[in-house]
Amino acid sequence: YVVDKGNHRHFMEKEIYEQPEVISHALSHYVDFASHRVRPDISSIDFGSVSGLAISACGTAYLAGLVGKYWFERYARLPVEIDVASEFRYREMPLSPSQAALFISQSGETADTLASLRYCKDNGLKIGAVVNVKESTIARESDAVFPILAGPEIGVASTKAFTCQLAVLASLAIGAGVARGTVSAKDEEDLVRHLVEMPRIMANVLNIIQPQMESLSREISKFKDVLYLGRGTSFPLAMEGALKLKEISYIHAEGYAAGELKHGPIALIDENMPVIVIAPHDRFFDKTVSNMQEVAARGGRIIFITDELGAAASTLPTMATITLPVVDEIIAPIIFSLPIQLLAYHTAVFMGTDVDQPRNLAKSVTVE
Ligand code: AGP
Repeated sequence: YVVDKGNHRHFMEKEIYEQPEVISHALSHYVDFASHRVRPDISSIDFGSVSGLAISACGTAYLAGLVGKYWFERYARLPVEIDVASEFRYREMPLSPSQAALFISQSGETADTLASLRYCKDNGLKIGAVVNVKESTIARESDAVFPILAGPEIGVASTKAFTCQLAVLASLAIGAGVARGTVSAKDEEDLVRHLVEMPRIMANVLNIIQPQMESLSREISKFKDVLYLGRGTSFPLAMEGALKLKEISYIHAEGYAAGELKHGPIALIDENMPVIVIAPHDRFFDKTVSNMQEVAARGGRIIFITDELGAAASTLPTMATITLPVVDEIIAPIIFSLPIQLLAYHTAVFMGTDVDQPRNLAKSVTVE
């Protein structure tokens, strides 16, 4: 694996654009592209018989876990307890050996995640690691290793590791659903088909949205604060968008569950704080649009990241509308990650920051 920037200005840009390829590679490890089945031998964890799942991680890996929680609960009907590792390890939560635990880490060396893993191990839980570095400490100390196969990620801001983590978690959640009898053979086939089609859609989306994301980023770079909103799996994505923007452009950003808007952040809405609404045309769409109305009514500027159906369904004025193709719910968080990553990337480029090595940040946090 050659680690250079290729034709790209930054590793981050290269890593954004190689996502279709690495995700396809990762998926081929977990699902059968011909039969559209999850590979039966992917896990030594018996998701069929566990009573619940504990997930822990830090930063972007934690937000991937949060999307995973929605999937494991929805598709496998498996209760998930999730927390950032620095809280998880000290909460003294009751755990049982009938549960399994998943730790998500690109580097596999994050101190808090490792400490949470050891805490779960001491409590007798079966341990799974979703890691990029297969030789890492977290991988070595786990009972089951789920590689995300993203290849080396050099940019401090995680991009391809996040989407590969999501692809692996989606496959595991479907596999768990099959094992638990909550995903039928027909549903398995449909869900896996969507995963298999995803790399092609990603490549297409990256091509289509690039110019628009670049010009929108020029606008965003003029603001000091940005709010991201989303519901369902778009909620963790809103937090991921905010994290990405703040860590490389140094613009203050917050990600909120759209329904929480009127419980506080609505007080901040004015023309100086763009609101990025992540809303595929899913089960939550109408609710999110009503939150968007609340923003518009207060003179807020809206950046609407939606799909073709969503764009047609809303007539609210926006500062920009980014229209993606309509995709199945299982792949929407991965497809909708792409505009979020490009927005952060191009904004940072306009701001003139050190995109791959932002100030004060380390790629891997090996101290508490
Ligand atoms: C993501 O852009 C961050 N740089 C950071 O939040 C990162 O995801 C976190 O430190 C976890 O790292 P890990 O995946 O190597 O454990």
